Amino acid sequence: MLTDPELTEGYSVDWTRRWRASARAVVRPTTTDQVAALVSAARRHGVALVPQGGNTGLVGGSVPRTGAEVVLSLRRLDALGPVDVLAAQVTAGGGVTLAALQGHAAAAGLAFGVDTGARESATVGGMIATNAGGVHVVRHGPMRAQVVGVEAVLGTGDVVSRLSGLVKDNTGYDLGQLLCGSEGTLGVVTGARLRLVPDEPHVVVAFLGLAGVGEAVSLASELRHDVGRVRALEVMEGDSMRVVASHLGAPPPVASDAGAFLLVEAAGRVDPSAELADAIARCAPSTAAAVGVERLDRERLWRWREAHPEAAAALGVVLKFDVTLPAAAIAEFCAKVSERLASGWPGATTLLYGHVGDGNIHVNVVGPDPDDDAVDDTVLDLVMALGGSISAEHGIGVAKKAWLTRDRSAGEVAAMRAIKDALDPDGIMNPGVLLP
Ligand code: MLT
Ligand code: ZN
Repeated sequence: MLTDPELTEGYSVDWTRRWRASARAVVRPTTTDQVAALVSAARRHGVALVPQGGNTGLVGGSVPRTGAEVVLSLRRLDALGPVDVLAAQVTAGGGVTLAALQGHAAAAGLAFGVDTGARESATVGGMIATNAGGVHVVRHGPMRAQVVGVEAVLGTGDVVSRLSGLVKDNTGYDLGQLLCGSEGTLGVVTGARLRLVPDEPHVVVAFLGLAGVGEAVSLASELRHDVGRVRALEVMEGDSMRVVASHLGAPPPVASDAGAFLLVEAAGRVDPSAELADAIARCAPSTAAAVGVERLDRERLWRWREAHPEAAAALGVVLKFDVTLPAAAIAEFCAKVSERLASGWPGATTLLYGHVGDGNIHVNVVGPDPDDDAVDDTVLDLVMALGGSISAEHGIGVAKKAWLTRDRSAGEVAAMRAIKDALDPDGIMNPGVLLP
């Protein structure tokens, strides 16, 4: 247990720097039994717990809010079981980082289906609690699609453990799936049985300059249907890319003045380069393209996508939105949101990028007061009007809590509340997060 403020500081502020409060203590258990003992003690003493994995969340859900909470860090729950090659599964502790999991799977000739820029810090428990998405959802689905079973301590102090790896298991409510996306409000995920996917050693990345977001959406859809092995489809709006270019001090790899950029990654057990090149030549014949086949070349192209959040953060505190839209509404959303933010907050910088294959657009706004709810209203009203969802992958946390009832019906919120009250009867699990 850490109480020295110098040591607890890193657990008290999240990646956005928007949400911070000192932790009363940080507890770092190494076993599920220790977590259960801690939850029981917290119930007895009425102490709020904030579960925290890699602390890479972006909605204020993983840091204290009042200073009275104890942070329950998952990071020492980092045991990795042997890869079960026959079942293509592995059991991982809640504190195993995504990078460690990926390396472990690769050593056994397999891969893990989820990847995100936060791979060095994000942990299995945090990724389950937030149902993390990332860049390979078009191919493998989000975190919940990788979860075969979980071990967790509920807010009641009960331990639930379903790590046998049985894919078919219809024995009542699936508590593991219920914990996916629960944001630490029902219990703490201490471990999981995870599905692995075949390793695909042949990877190609194409980085394309296009006229606008609409063209990127259409091309992404065509490539997804034409190229069997597409596993990432990322869009970056042109002006956003130019902010990144100034941050990185270099022009983008192709067509610096493009209205939008599309990054496509295909991967397979046989080389998908020719198939991807043919599809691009057929669907978008005169498009400027940079292609990477070797790992370093691919990483250089990905850098232009992954630098978007850091380029925004370098400008100041970022108001981050993470929304999904129907494919047909993405271009209209991007045009209108830029226009409305520019007219409401002249001088603000807006970056638009995201996982276009899933309809997931990240809107990053720098300039306005981070507590100015009118910015949220501007972005999220438009999302709702166009038939979208207010959170695609980052979750609700504290950032979007006031908005939950606009996206979800009264009946849905009441059902969520009933589940919360049943599994966390004293309200000690991450209070103030998710539910209004
Ligand atoms: C991303 O796709 O880059 C992540 O969701 C993080 C972010 O938007 O800041
Ligand atoms: Zn994302």
